[in-house]
Amino acid sequence: MFSIVSFSELASTNDHLKQHNCEYPFSTVILAQHQTKGRGRFERIWQSDQDLTFSILFPHGPNHGFIAPLAVVKALKAHAIPAEIKWPNDVLVHGKKVCGILVESVYEGNDAVADIVGIGVNVTEKKNLRAKSTYVSLSRNELLTDILARYEELLGLETKDLLNEIRKVFYLNGKTLQIDGIMWDVDGVDEHGYLCIHHQDQQRILKSEEITLSSIYEKEQS
Ligand code: BTN
Repeated sequence: MFSIVSFSELASTNDHLKQHNCEYPFSTVILAQHQTKGRGRFERIWQSDQDLTFSILFPHGPNHGFIAPLAVVKALKAHAIPAEIKWPNDVLVHGKKVCGILVESVYEGNDAVADIVGIGVNVTEKKNLRAKSTYVSLSRNELLTDILARYEELLGLETKDLLNEIRKVFYLNGKTLQIDGIMWDVDGVDEHGYLCIHHQDQQRILKSEEITLSSIYEKEQS
Protein backbone atom coordinates (compact mmCIF):
# COMPACT_ATOMS: atom_id res chain seq x y z
CA MET A 1 0.00 0.00 0.00
CA PHE A 2 2.77 2.46 0.89
CA SER A 3 5.38 3.69 -1.57
CA ILE A 4 8.57 5.08 -0.09
CA VAL A 5 10.45 8.05 -1.54
CA SER A 6 13.82 8.39 0.15
CA PHE A 7 16.01 11.48 0.49
CA SER A 8 19.48 11.65 1.96
CA GLU A 9 18.66 15.02 3.53
CA LEU A 10 15.60 17.23 3.93
CA ALA A 11 14.85 20.17 6.19
CA SER A 12 11.73 18.38 7.45
CA THR A 13 9.76 15.51 5.93
CA ASN A 14 6.51 17.17 7.08
CA ASP A 15 7.49 20.44 5.40
CA HIS A 16 8.46 18.61 2.23
CA LEU A 17 5.01 17.03 2.00
CA LYS A 18 3.32 20.32 2.86
CA GLN A 19 5.09 22.00 -0.04
CA HIS A 20 4.85 19.14 -2.53
CA ASN A 21 1.74 17.19 -1.53
CA CYS A 22 0.15 17.71 -4.96
CA GLU A 23 3.07 15.86 -6.57
CA TYR A 24 2.59 12.67 -4.57
CA PRO A 25 -0.29 10.18 -4.40
CA PHE A 26 -1.83 9.31 -1.04
CA SER A 27 0.10 6.67 0.94
CA THR A 28 3.44 8.09 -0.14
CA VAL A 29 6.08 7.88 2.58
CA ILE A 30 8.75 10.58 2.52
CA LEU A 31 11.81 9.25 4.30
CA ALA A 32 14.85 11.39 5.16
CA GLN A 33 18.13 9.86 6.26
CA HIS A 34 18.80 13.20 7.92
CA GLN A 35 16.61 16.21 8.76
CA THR A 36 18.16 19.63 9.23
CA LYS A 37 15.05 21.42 10.55
CA GLY A 38 12.87 18.73 12.07
CA ARG A 39 9.84 20.15 13.84
CA GLY A 40 7.83 18.91 16.79
CA ARG A 41 4.50 19.95 18.28
CA PHE A 42 4.19 23.58 19.33
CA GLU A 43 7.00 24.46 16.85
CA ARG A 44 9.60 22.78 19.03
CA ILE A 45 12.80 21.62 17.36
CA TRP A 46 12.96 17.86 16.69
CA GLN A 47 16.60 16.95 16.85
CA SER A 48 17.61 13.86 14.91
CA ASP A 49 20.84 12.48 13.59
CA GLN A 50 20.87 9.10 11.85
CA ASP A 51 17.41 8.41 13.25
CA LEU A 52 14.19 7.23 11.67
CA THR A 53 12.33 10.28 10.35
CA PHE A 54 9.48 10.02 7.88
CA SER A 55 6.09 11.44 6.97
CA ILE A 56 3.09 9.80 5.29
CA LEU A 57 0.47 11.52 3.11
CA PHE A 58 -3.12 10.42 3.68
CA PRO A 59 -6.56 11.65 2.72
CA HIS A 60 -7.89 13.69 5.64
CA GLY A 61 -9.29 11.42 8.34
CA PRO A 62 -10.05 11.50 12.05
CA ASN A 63 -7.85 8.76 13.43
CA HIS A 64 -4.20 9.32 12.54
CA GLY A 65 -3.44 10.77 15.96
CA PHE A 66 -4.47 7.40 17.41
CA ILE A 67 -3.16 5.06 14.70
CA ALA A 68 0.35 6.52 14.45
CA PRO A 69 1.43 5.98 18.09
CA LEU A 70 -0.26 2.58 18.18
CA ALA A 71 1.59 1.48 15.03
CA VAL A 72 4.90 2.50 16.62
CA VAL A 73 4.10 0.82 19.95
CA LYS A 74 3.09 -2.41 18.24
CA ALA A 75 6.19 -2.39 16.05
CA LEU A 76 8.42 -1.88 19.12
CA LYS A 77 6.60 -4.53 21.13
CA ALA A 78 7.27 -7.02 18.32
CA HIS A 79 10.95 -6.49 19.23
CA ALA A 80 10.15 -7.09 22.92
CA ILE A 81 10.51 -3.38 23.69
CA PRO A 82 7.96 -2.34 26.36
CA ALA A 83 6.59 0.75 24.62
CA GLU A 84 3.67 2.83 25.92
CA ILE A 85 1.68 5.84 24.73
CA LYS A 86 1.82 9.09 26.64
CA TRP A 87 -1.14 11.27 25.82
CA PRO A 88 -1.68 12.58 23.30
CA ASN A 89 0.71 10.68 21.07
CA ASP A 90 4.27 10.43 22.37
CA VAL A 91 5.73 6.93 22.58
CA LEU A 92 7.75 6.14 25.69
CA VAL A 93 10.02 3.28 26.72
CA HIS A 94 10.61 2.92 30.45
CA GLY A 95 9.02 6.37 30.91
CA LYS A 96 11.31 8.13 28.43
CA LYS A 97 10.33 9.50 25.04
CA VAL A 98 11.54 7.44 22.11
CA CYS A 99 9.20 8.70 19.40
CA GLY A 100 7.40 11.94 18.59
CA ILE A 101 4.48 12.29 16.20
CA LEU A 102 3.32 15.41 14.38
CA VAL A 103 0.01 15.20 12.51
CA GLU A 104 -0.77 18.20 10.30
CA SER A 105 -3.52 18.84 7.78
CA VAL A 106 -3.40 20.33 4.29
CA TYR A 107 -6.24 22.77 3.59
CA GLU A 108 -8.04 23.90 0.47
CA GLY A 109 -9.82 27.01 1.67
CA ASN A 110 -11.39 25.98 4.96
CA ASP A 111 -11.49 22.28 4.10
CA ALA A 112 -8.87 19.81 5.27
CA VAL A 113 -8.13 17.62 2.26
CA ALA A 114 -5.10 15.66 3.39
CA ASP A 115 -3.18 14.70 6.51
CA ILE A 116 0.56 14.52 6.93
CA VAL A 117 1.64 12.11 9.63
CA GLY A 118 5.24 12.78 10.68
CA ILE A 119 6.98 10.19 12.82
CA GLY A 120 10.43 10.45 14.38
CA VAL A 121 11.94 7.51 16.27
CA ASN A 122 15.27 7.82 18.07
CA VAL A 123 17.53 4.94 17.08
CA THR A 124 20.78 6.63 18.06
CA GLU A 125 21.95 7.83 21.44
CA LYS A 126 21.94 11.60 21.89
CA LYS A 127 24.38 13.09 24.34
CA ASN A 128 22.73 16.49 24.67
CA LEU A 129 19.08 15.50 24.63
CA ARG A 130 16.95 15.96 27.72
CA ALA A 131 17.22 13.15 30.23
CA LYS A 132 13.59 12.32 29.44
CA SER A 133 14.53 10.98 25.98
CA THR A 134 15.79 7.56 25.05
CA TYR A 135 16.47 5.49 21.93
CA VAL A 136 15.98 1.97 20.63
CA SER A 137 18.82 0.05 19.09
CA LEU A 138 17.03 -1.17 15.95
CA SER A 139 17.68 -0.97 12.23
CA ARG A 140 15.91 2.01 10.68
CA ASN A 141 14.74 0.07 7.62
CA GLU A 142 13.41 -2.85 9.63
CA LEU A 143 11.58 -0.54 12.03
CA LEU A 144 10.08 1.48 9.17
CA THR A 145 8.80 -1.72 7.52
CA ASP A 146 7.30 -2.89 10.81
CA ILE A 147 5.62 0.45 11.57
CA LEU A 148 4.10 0.67 8.09
CA ALA A 149 2.78 -2.91 8.31
CA ARG A 150 1.12 -2.11 11.65
CA TYR A 151 -0.22 1.17 10.29
CA GLU A 152 -1.89 -0.64 7.40
CA GLU A 153 -3.56 -3.11 9.79
CA LEU A 154 -4.78 -0.37 12.12
CA LEU A 155 -6.29 1.71 9.29
CA GLY A 156 -9.07 -0.89 9.20
CA LEU A 157 -10.13 -0.34 12.84
CA GLU A 158 -12.92 1.93 14.04
CA THR A 159 -12.19 4.77 16.46
CA LYS A 160 -13.62 2.93 19.47
CA ASP A 161 -11.40 -0.09 18.80
CA LEU A 162 -8.33 2.11 18.38
CA LEU A 163 -9.08 3.82 21.69
CA ASN A 164 -9.44 0.44 23.40
CA GLU A 165 -6.03 -0.54 22.03
CA ILE A 166 -4.58 2.75 23.30
CA ARG A 167 -6.03 2.17 26.78
CA LYS A 168 -4.08 -1.10 27.02
CA VAL A 169 -0.72 0.65 26.52
CA PHE A 170 -1.53 4.00 28.12
CA TYR A 171 1.41 5.30 30.12
CA LEU A 172 -0.64 7.76 32.18
CA ASN A 173 -2.82 5.03 33.72
CA GLY A 174 -2.55 5.39 37.50
CA LYS A 175 -0.46 8.57 37.30
CA THR A 176 -0.98 11.92 38.97
CA LEU A 177 -0.45 15.12 37.02
CA GLN A 178 0.31 18.54 38.38
CA ILE A 179 -1.47 21.24 36.41
CA ASP A 180 -1.64 24.85 37.57
CA GLY A 181 -0.41 23.80 41.01
CA ILE A 182 -3.14 21.19 41.52
CA MET A 183 -2.59 17.44 41.59
CA TRP A 184 -4.99 15.63 39.24
CA ASP A 185 -5.56 11.87 39.07
CA VAL A 186 -5.76 10.44 35.57
CA ASP A 187 -8.99 8.56 34.84
CA GLY A 188 -8.11 7.65 31.27
CA VAL A 189 -9.09 8.48 27.72
CA ASP A 190 -12.72 9.12 26.76
CA GLU A 191 -14.54 8.13 23.55
CA HIS A 192 -13.09 11.15 21.71
CA GLY A 193 -9.51 10.48 22.78
CA TYR A 194 -9.55 13.34 25.29
CA LEU A 195 -7.78 12.93 28.63
CA CYS A 196 -10.10 12.68 31.66
CA ILE A 197 -8.69 13.75 35.03
CA HIS A 198 -10.15 14.55 38.41
CA HIS A 199 -9.15 16.37 41.59
CA GLN A 200 -11.40 15.50 44.53
CA ASP A 201 -14.92 15.96 43.08
CA GLN A 202 -13.79 18.23 40.24
CA GLN A 203 -13.66 16.65 36.78
CA ARG A 204 -11.68 18.02 33.86
CA ILE A 205 -11.32 16.94 30.23
CA LEU A 206 -8.17 17.93 28.36
CA LYS A 207 -7.99 18.27 24.60
CA SER A 208 -4.49 17.89 23.21
CA GLU A 209 -4.38 21.41 21.80
CA GLU A 210 -5.35 23.00 25.10
CA ILE A 211 -2.26 22.26 27.08
CA THR A 212 1.37 21.50 26.40
CA LEU A 213 2.75 18.40 28.00
CA SER A 214 5.72 20.39 29.24
CA SER A 215 3.33 22.10 31.64
CA ILE A 216 2.30 18.75 33.08
CA TYR A 217 4.36 17.35 35.86
CA GLU A 218 4.04 13.64 36.37
CA LYS A 219 4.36 11.85 39.61
CA GLU A 220 4.23 8.07 39.95
CA GLN A 221 1.64 7.03 42.49
CA SER A 222 3.16 5.11 45.31
C1 BTN B 1 6.88 15.98 18.92
O1 BTN B 1 7.24 15.13 19.72
O2 BTN B 1 6.67 17.15 19.27
C2 BTN B 1 6.68 15.57 17.49
C3 BTN B 1 7.97 15.27 16.78
C4 BTN B 1 7.76 14.85 15.33
C5 BTN B 1 9.06 14.65 14.59
C6 BTN B 1 8.85 14.08 13.22
S1 BTN B 1 10.36 13.56 12.47
C7 BTN B 1 9.56 13.37 10.94
C8 BTN B 1 8.58 14.53 10.79
N1 BTN B 1 9.25 15.68 10.26
C9 BTN B 1 9.27 16.70 11.11
O3 BTN B 1 9.79 17.82 10.93
N2 BTN B 1 8.68 16.34 12.27
C10 BTN B 1 8.17 14.99 12.21
